[in-house]
Amino acid sequence: MADLRTAAERAITLRSEIARHDYAYYVLDAPTIPDAEYDRLFRELRDIETQHPQLLTPDSPTQRVGGAPLTEFGQVQHRIPMLSLNNAFTEDEVLAFDRRCREGLNLGDSEIEYAVEPKYDGLAITLIYENGMFVQGATRGDGNTGEDVTLNLRTVRNIPLHLDGSVSVYPARLEVRGEVLMFRKDFEKLNQQQRDAGLKVFVNPRNAAAGSLRQLDPKITAQRPLRFFAYGVAELGGALPESHAALMEQLAAWNLPVAKERAVVRGRGGLLDYYARIGTARDTLPYDIDGVVYKLNRYADQEQLGFVSRAPRFAIAHKFPAQEALTTVEAIDVQVGRTGALTPVARLAPVFVGGVTVTNATLHNEDEVLRKDVRVGDTVIVRRAGDVIPEVVAVVLEKRAIMAPQFVMPKTCPECGSAVEKPEDEAITRCTGGLYCPAQRKQALLHFASRRALDIEGLGDKLVEQLVDQAIVKTPADLYSLDPGNLLKLERMAEKSATNILAAIDKSKQTTLARFIYALGIRNAGEATAKELARHFGGLDALMQADEAALQQVPDIGPVVAASIVSFFAEPHNRVVIAQLRAAGVYWTEGEAARVVSSAILGKTFVLTGTLPSLTREEAQERIEALGGKVKSSVSAKTDYVVAGAEAGSKLDKALQLGITILDETQLLELLHT
Ligand code: IVH
Repeated sequence: MADLRTAAERAITLRSEIARHDYAYYVLDAPTIPDAEYDRLFRELRDIETQHPQLLTPDSPTQRVGGAPLTEFGQVQHRIPMLSLNNAFTEDEVLAFDRRCREGLNLGDSEIEYAVEPKYDGLAITLIYENGMFVQGATRGDGNTGEDVTLNLRTVRNIPLHLDGSVSVYPARLEVRGEVLMFRKDFEKLNQQQRDAGLKVFVNPRNAAAGSLRQLDPKITAQRPLRFFAYGVAELGGALPESHAALMEQLAAWNLPVAKERAVVRGRGGLLDYYARIGTARDTLPYDIDGVVYKLNRYADQEQLGFVSRAPRFAIAHKFPAQEALTTVEAIDVQVGRTGALTPVARLAPVFVGGVTVTNATLHNEDEVLRKDVRVGDTVIVRRAGDVIPEVVAVVLEKRAIMAPQFVMPKTCPECGSAVEKPEDEAITRCTGGLYCPAQRKQALLHFASRRALDIEGLGDKLVEQLVDQAIVKTPADLYSLDPGNLLKLERMAEKSATNILAAIDKSKQTTLARFIYALGIRNAGEATAKELARHFGGLDALMQADEAALQQVPDIGPVVAASIVSFFAEPHNRVVIAQLRAAGVYWTEGEAARVVSSAILGKTFVLTGTLPSLTREEAQERIEALGGKVKSSVSAKTDYVVAGAEAGSKLDKALQLGITILDETQLLELLHT
């Protein structure tokens, strides 16, 4: 008996300890113990429960691995229906919402307080806690009746099986509403595992989350990286706080996950600012969102406005442009890139997605086309997220009306007819024509002239196309011997534009070593690598003489990049072009590597936000990097300085939160000069 008592006490300790670690890991994203130690605690608890089955409780973390499969889901009648939100797609619709709220509350022109948060792109669920214990969870279903997915929800690691945390008084019954979703990185990993195992891959995180939650076998759900975020409760019983923001604090205090991005804002200006802020941050969030939600913050106000048919009057979803849309494939072409890579591209019936009209989408490579089985005439899902090149996500097979033949990669380069090659263990097919291939030559020139390389303004697609097709320019060095005579022969080239282009070419001669290295277009050596190389070697000759071992001394350069660099400079043709460029007067200051050693900036991490009075963002970045500093796009505990200008946004807030040193432009310039 004493034995059982000890075991019971130990089980309680272990459960709360494990719950604490789960919370730290899955909600706070700040693990508190090594995995091995966690596993030890977990096994100890499982052993106790196996030896003494009477000690097993439904809120034990051991229940997260999933029990026996079901034959079907039971039904759950929602005591309070799960409604939906009205949508706003335009600013005017948001202004109208704000006006309706002010009118409904007789507030005239004064500004209302709104609670605002992301609109998660997942599945709505409801969680019931009785005296702090998770007892039932269900899907939304038709809003009145959902499916009982309790066993599956128990496996979702950031759903507390027992409310816990800083507040230990729980309501007798609490119904939490929220959304189940999958982080993008977890989704990618899951799809990779599915692919490796020859199983079905999911189209997007939302579908993966839905498919995972609706598994009859909870053991399968347990292996899927689902997450939950709470955005409200079903009943506004007496014990509830007076505002939505306070409720969210309360839920968080019970260890329920709530959005870090939530905020309270005032008036329509506050709503629109929040929309813009989250819109910018959209691609940096770990999960997909399809908009933001605005809610009257005070519950008394919410109650006064009430509901209309199936949606509240006191809340609205302000949607972002959809990142996915359906369209049809009109053709599949093959493009040749700067490095000779052959990329299949789907030509699409124009479709509005991610805020722009898209007519082309990359299919990446041959294996991808075959894996997705994209064929001409197919209806496909196209995705355009942020500034990323639009891609074909999947074919909607049910809509395949005709069966066009499977895609085949050409055996010769569509641009120059040279043979193509595809090494066994690589996905990319390449043209072997090198700079003989006009497509590669054009791309190499465009890259050389691009803004972050030698920055030759006005040397765009059309001009390069003509210069290469008419054999006026073969290599970047040829640009520097162009004269008005060459240019004036070309289509649509007036004297004025010819002069401008020649001036831009002349201006590009004065550059930096990093830009020059980047401009060469060495395979696998992007802008960041070029900067590291310039910093490390200080001069071009030292770089050209470096062998693979020497190159691997440079931070972030591994064997693949080192090999590309060596083989680039080993190519006599490339050496000739470099010599010609230098002879033409392309010039930079060498020896920077030696100078940076004493810099106050060396090795420090900066984040830039807002508009600086005199420097552009790029200028500031270039000057910081020239002295060995790094510029990152988001603020974290590792950031040393945040440089803030006018209209600095959430990065500044984050910096303040983390106590990071904030500089204005003057202070930055001072630091650059010390
Ligand atoms: S509040 C009366 N807040 O959007 C409904 N809903 O159209 C109150 N959703 O399926 C919902 N994120 O699951 C609310 N921060 C958020 C949300 C959110 C996503 C979903 C919700 C529902 C749909 C409503």
